[in-house]
Amino acid sequence: MKMENPFVLSVYAGPQYFCDREKETETLINAIKNQRNITLISYRRLGKSGLIKHVFYQLREEKSMKLFYVDIMDTENLSGLVSLLAKEIIGQVDNKTMRFLKKFGEAVKSLRPKISVDPLTGQPEIEISVQHDSAPETGLSEVFSYLQKQNKHIVIAFDEFQQITEYPEMNVEAILRKHIQHMDNTNFIFSGSKKHMLISMFSDYGKPFYQSAQMLDLEKIDTKIYKEFIRSRFEISKRSIDDSALDLIMEYTQVHTFYVQYLCNKLYGLPVKKITSETVTDTLLKILEENEVIYHNYKVLLTGNQFKLLEAIAREGSVSKPTSKEFIAKYELGTPSSVGTAMNALFKKEMILKDDGLIKVYDIFFSHWLARRNATV
Ligand SMILES: Nc1ncnc2c1ncn2[C@@H]1O[C@H](COP(=O)(O)OP(=O)(O)OP(=O)(O)O)[C@@H](O)[C@H]1O
Ligand SMILES: [Mg+2]
Repeated sequence: MKMENPFVLSVYAGPQYFCDREKETETLINAIKNQRNITLISYRRLGKSGLIKHVFYQLREEKSMKLFYVDIMDTENLSGLVSLLAKEIIGQVDNKTMRFLKKFGEAVKSLRPKISVDPLTGQPEIEISVQHDSAPETGLSEVFSYLQKQNKHIVIAFDEFQQITEYPEMNVEAILRKHIQHMDNTNFIFSGSKKHMLISMFSDYGKPFYQSAQMLDLEKIDTKIYKEFIRSRFEISKRSIDDSALDLIMEYTQVHTFYVQYLCNKLYGLPVKKITSETVTDTLLKILEENEVIYHNYKVLLTGNQFKLLEAIAREGSVSKPTSKEFIAKYELGTPSSVGTAMNALFKKEMILKDDGLIKVYDIFFSHWLARRNATV
């Protein structure tokens, strides 16, 4: 697909809009080709989903493979996961003939598939609905056994995999693991942003998924490579961007993929031939202004203590010990125990994160906005 603006904000638009990730792509492809499951983790918006799509794009011509991508973020239970997977399988078949639909419908009987013919196009269709009265495990076992009968190497990516821990059913991990380990023609990519939860799921002795997958902890894109990517995208459209502007983009966004893409998307949308560091600063301020209503809303969701702590962290940029005397005194935060309580709440709400021992505000633009409040400049 040809895009007007090369700084894409949707998940994946093709390799020409995708920066680097060569090593990670290779690691994932190597794991898949050697039948190893892989768990992909990173903070939010760093590029996990994009990377999976990029890997699938590279493998799209592999005739012996079938690739399924299932984002389970919005599923509420195991039935939801099973029906999404079934829908993805149906969606992948280009020519949905009556024969395929009947065969698939037979295989996943417990999902009560309804086959019908579209009155306008005359094309056969299949509808899968989540049935609360049928055991989701039966559906899971039917879908997996259908896949196992295919004479293909199957790859299933479960994105936002940590969602399974929210399901109300007991032992979802154990149920999934039981089925997954019998799939000898299938590999899995488990991806998610709740790093601690996923690490514990796959590395705690005694957990069903213990050591069942290779870990890939996605890091930031290399600064030099990202700057070159940005420069070349501007040059293609006969525009230029200063070195100082590129450095400032990296500084303001902390090289966090989504924020880089967003700022560059905005910069690219300006009717100017030359991007300077002033343009970058002005554009960042414009973004903060546009997002103000969201930030005010965040404030409503937090208690006074939590907001004060968040603001203090933002003004420091990063903090190693928020309960230290100096930090508390500097920002008049109360007692170490009230700071501790506020900090736990902020972690839970994903408003802050801990990276390399340093606590930071999760949303980088929000952090800039917070730091500028009450600031004299
Ligand atoms: N290598 C890349 N080059 C350019 N843009 C990228 C790259 N990787 C991701 N992006 C863009 O960055 C944004 C965030 O990426 P993505 O949605 O893949 O992150 P994620 O880690 O899956 O986030 P979340 O945890 O919220 O699901 C998207 O707009 C995506 O298009
Ligand atoms: Mg994602």
